[in-house]
Parts: sequence; C-alpha cells; structure tokens
Amino acid sequence: MSELMNSVRAKAALLGKRIVLAEGEETRILHAAVKIAEKKIANIVLLGDPEKAQAACPDLDLSGLEFVNFKVSPKREEYAAVLYELRKAKGMTMEDAMKLTLNPLYFGSLMVKCGDADGLVGGSITATSEVLRPALQIIKTAPGVKTVSSCFIIVMPDEQYGDKGVFVFGDCAVNPMPDANQLRDIAFSTANSAKVLADIKQPKVAMLSFSTKGSAKHDVVTKVQEATALVKESNPDFDVDGELQLDAAIVPSVGELKAKGSTVAGHANVLIFPDLQAGNIGYKLAQRFGHAEAVGPICQGFAKPVNDLSRGCSDEDVVDVVAITALQAAAM
Ligand code: ACO
Repeated sequence: MSELMNSVRAKAALLGKRIVLAEGEETRILHAAVKIAEKKIANIVLLGDPEKAQAACPDLDLSGLEFVNFKVSPKREEYAAVLYELRKAKGMTMEDAMKLTLNPLYFGSLMVKCGDADGLVGGSITATSEVLRPALQIIKTAPGVKTVSSCFIIVMPDEQYGDKGVFVFGDCAVNPMPDANQLRDIAFSTANSAKVLADIKQPKVAMLSFSTKGSAKHDVVTKVQEATALVKESNPDFDVDGELQLDAAIVPSVGELKAKGSTVAGHANVLIFPDLQAGNIGYKLAQRFGHAEAVGPICQGFAKPVNDLSRGCSDEDVVDVVAITALQAAAM
C-alpha cells in the first residue's frame, strides 16, 4: 500500500466517523468491517441480517460489529416519509417509498440524509448507477455544486511527474458527456479532492484535450476552452490551464515548448478529462501500463459523502474507500 493511503487511513482513525456499508452480508465487506473495527478507522454500520452475515463468514468474529437489519427496521417508515417528501413531485407515492427502503442503497442514503450516519459506501455487487441514483435523489449536491462527479487518486511508482508522482484524475466514472459548465464543476471538485484526500497543497489543474492552446480546431476542443474560461471566470486565483495535451500538461520540457509562460503546463497534478470515455480509459492506462495505484472511483460533489465500490474490489479496497469517506465527511 502507498504511503499516501496509509496516511489517509491514519487520518480517518482520528475522526471517529460513522460510515454505513450497504452490503452487510457480503464476505468481502464483512472482512473489511472487521479490519476497520480493529484499526478503529471508522465506526461501521452494516446493513443486513447479522445471522446471515455470520453464516456467510463462519470463521469471522462479528460480535463487536453494529448491524442494522434494514428490512425489519422500525426506522423504515420514518425514512420512507422523508423519501416521499423529496420525490412526491416526481410522482412517488408513500407505497413506492416504503418499497424502496427495502433496497439497502436507498435505506443507507436515507440514514445519511437524516444524520444517522456520516457517509455511505456501497456497490460491491451492483452497478455504479444503482449506487449513484438513490444518492442523487436523496442526498443531492453540496451547496454551490450542480454536478456530482468522480475522481481517482493515481499514485505512480516513481516521483517524476505530478505532485511527487501523485495525481488526481476527474471525471472517470460518472458523467458520460459533460458540457462546459459540468467540466467547470468537475475541475473545482477534483481540485478540492486533491487537497482533502491526496494532500496536494497546490492543485495545478490541466483541462485535457487532443489540442494545446488552439493547435487543433473542433467542437470538442472548443468545449474544453470554454470550460477553462468558466473556471478562470469563477475563480481568477485558481491555478488552471487549458486546453492542454497530456504531455504538455505533465512534462516540463513539452509544457515549456507548447504552452510557454503557463504556470500549470508541465507541472499539472490534477487532470480533467474532456469526457467519460477519455477519463475511464485514461485511469486504466495509468493503472495497467503505468503500474500506478488507482484509488477510486471517489464520488465528489454530494452534500454528504457517498462512495461506490468496484464490483471487483478486495476487502482492502473497501477499507481504503471507507477511510476516504470519513475524510470527506470531516471536510464538509
Ligand atoms: N450531478 C448531479 N445531479 C445529477 C447527475 C449529476 N452528475 N446525474 C443525474 N443527476 C440528477 C438528475 O437530474 C435527477 O434529478 P431529479 O430526478 O431530481 O430531477 C436525479 O439525479 C436522478 O437522475 P436519473 O435521470 O435517474 O439518473 P441518470 O439516468 O441521469 O443517471 C448516473 C445518472 C447514474 C450517474 C448516470 O449518469 C450513469 O450511469 N453514469 C455512468 C456510470 C458508469 O457506468 N460509470 C462507469 C463505470 S465506473 C468505473 O469504471 C470505475
């Protein structure tokens, strides 16, 4: 494990945040919960039936863990009423809302919304959209943010580029075709995640494209130019530049050649991809060809933290995501 993720876990352990794990009967989740409890990384609430959980992991001592058996929880009615109020204008009935509280991702989002937990982690057996949709409907975006997005912390095996080898990439998992306004939101959220989670004190944000400073012309390049202008307009002190090709963004000699005078070109540590195809492919290239540690996807922009687990996640990945969720909760 990287030094950075060790430090994220250590910081989380000082916070005592209460984090819900939606799939509380799953083997990997239960192994992670035991590790989290042992290291006191967070106070975990597992959604599920403790007897089924014990049957799934007969050799694990689950006696010290808190379970909420959501299917028979007395809180269901209260949470359903909250959900109904939030969604009745969209046609939801109280009956629909009661049914939805039987879904642990809805129940968990409602726990967070009602202040019964500080954050939610789920998705080890479901698609990203099934985790995000309840959170988008219930927890919604943080004040001043219109777009929920995601980032990955990328820790390269050497320190040559970025912030001593550390980058934060956004958006790699949520918005398929962001427009210029959404790209602006993604840039601000990703820079904030870089500070809060990756200890990058001075985010240098590159708005990526296949063009550098007008070297190519296309509608998709114009979108990145517009997004860069919107970021600068919203916060003139923000260290952002675009549009930049990847090499111009991270390699000092190329940055100097293609974007002379830029404070970001050649030194970027936050990379904003123009759309989800580029972002998703980009982080996987860094991970597989560059042998980087890729931590995420980490959701950003919610009013309270919610994070999605990859279906291929290990119990150690779950521990990392819970630690990240605790840090996000503390920063809100
Ligand atoms: N930010 C803020 N609000 C949003 C966003 C967003 N990014 N997306 C949707 N919403 C809002 C909608 O406006 C809607 O609000 P309303 O119902 O109150 O009017 C609400 O959230 C629910 O929206 P839906 O229409 O139900 O959701 P949608 O169909 O737009 O889907 C989702 C949103 C789930 C995030 C979708 O964009 C998605 O599936 N993204 C891709 C996820 C994915 O497959 N990622 C790749 C895999 S992950 C990996 O490889 C690591």
